[in-house]
Amino acid sequence: MARDHWFKDAKYGLFIHWGIYSMLGGVYKGEKIPYGAEWIMKNAEIPLQEYRKLAETFNPVDFDAEDIVGKAKKWGMKYIVFTAKHHDGFAMYHSEVSDYNIMNTPFQRDPLKELAEECRKQGIILGIYYSQMQDWEDENGWGNEWDFKPDKEKDFEKYFYNKVKPQVKELLTNYGEVGIMWFDTPYVMPVQLCEELKAYTKSLQPDCLVNGRIGYKLGDYRQMSDNEIPVLSFPGDWETPMTLNDTWGYSRVDHNWKSAADVLYKLVDVVGKGGNLLLNIGPDEKGKVPEGSCKVLDEAGRWLDLNGESIYKCNLNMDFQYEISWGRVTGNDRKMFLHVFKYPEFPYEILITGLKTKIKKVTILDNCEELQFFQSYEPARDEYRFRVLLPKNGKLDKDMVLCAEYEGEIEIQKLE
Ligand code: GLC
Repeated sequence: MARDHWFKDAKYGLFIHWGIYSMLGGVYKGEKIPYGAEWIMKNAEIPLQEYRKLAETFNPVDFDAEDIVGKAKKWGMKYIVFTAKHHDGFAMYHSEVSDYNIMNTPFQRDPLKELAEECRKQGIILGIYYSQMQDWEDENGWGNEWDFKPDKEKDFEKYFYNKVKPQVKELLTNYGEVGIMWFDTPYVMPVQLCEELKAYTKSLQPDCLVNGRIGYKLGDYRQMSDNEIPVLSFPGDWETPMTLNDTWGYSRVDHNWKSAADVLYKLVDVVGKGGNLLLNIGPDEKGKVPEGSCKVLDEAGRWLDLNGESIYKCNLNMDFQYEISWGRVTGNDRKMFLHVFKYPEFPYEILITGLKTKIKKVTILDNCEELQFFQSYEPARDEYRFRVLLPKNGKLDKDMVLCAEYEGEIEIQKLE
């Protein structure tokens, strides 16, 4: 991907998991069903005939695309990925290919269309999630072995040509420009079909990215595992999808929200290692975004308003060889940003070992206060040290960002 590609600059996106599973909210017959609430049909082995009935009363009248897109912007996100069809097989858009879609509910509105229009209006990129192998409604889709035959006896190609490709065509023709086709759980899909699906996507929209879960490293970027951040900086393009509590789909029993400080730490960690964070919300059965998520994301958004320069377009991987105990570092081609998550005790200084680059000036990013700093090289030990003195007795409730302007290029000493 080119260095100035929108995906590389964006850093932070909003994932939206929303479907008829949201009506159950992780609870079936009075029992909390473990794991992702969007997996409830499979994890509780709900018969298709019964699960289908959810659609008959699905009427999420509180869904408001203008509000959600506005929130994403306020939260500092640069793109949105919406679940058009999750593993349960239900299309959350107007599909001519399958009746099992949101137009055949009392709601009779196409949320994807509404989101696409709002994204265009409000200037945010739209991505579409599509589960290409699992489909618990289709007798030949993968995953539903309680209503249909075992997976290995299914005619997967039939499903692929009758449902997947035609639906992908709808998604890439009826909703304007799509920034990412976000595929998921390719499992044992044959490589030729993955290649075909990728080529098909590109033939419909050449600029649309395909994520790593198309399978076989065919994606335009690497998809990290759910909630996983690599330990080391990773040189290619990548993205970590992350939950805000412990589920993707709405759960009425999971209130284990991450704090804003934690979200920001994870975002900074991802950005310093060269990736993007795709953070999830799960609207409820009425289409409302849970208060708990709004609170956290509002707070993180306020921080991003003041400190966004240290996140967006920060495309340098910071390959320091020592773990930085007080925080993380991000950077662009003129500035390095030192994110202090743990305020140092006396003598109130933070240290980076192994930076060869000459620093010109260090300031606190959100108030421009200039700070004293020292750089030294000890030949006998072959050690570069860069120290910054922080204000005495400062304290943090979140990330405090220092901006270090530098000369030339970032050069980090490799340990030998
Ligand atoms: C998964 C899950 C799923 C969720 C997704 C998000 O692999 O199957 O429910 O949509 O990852 O990354």
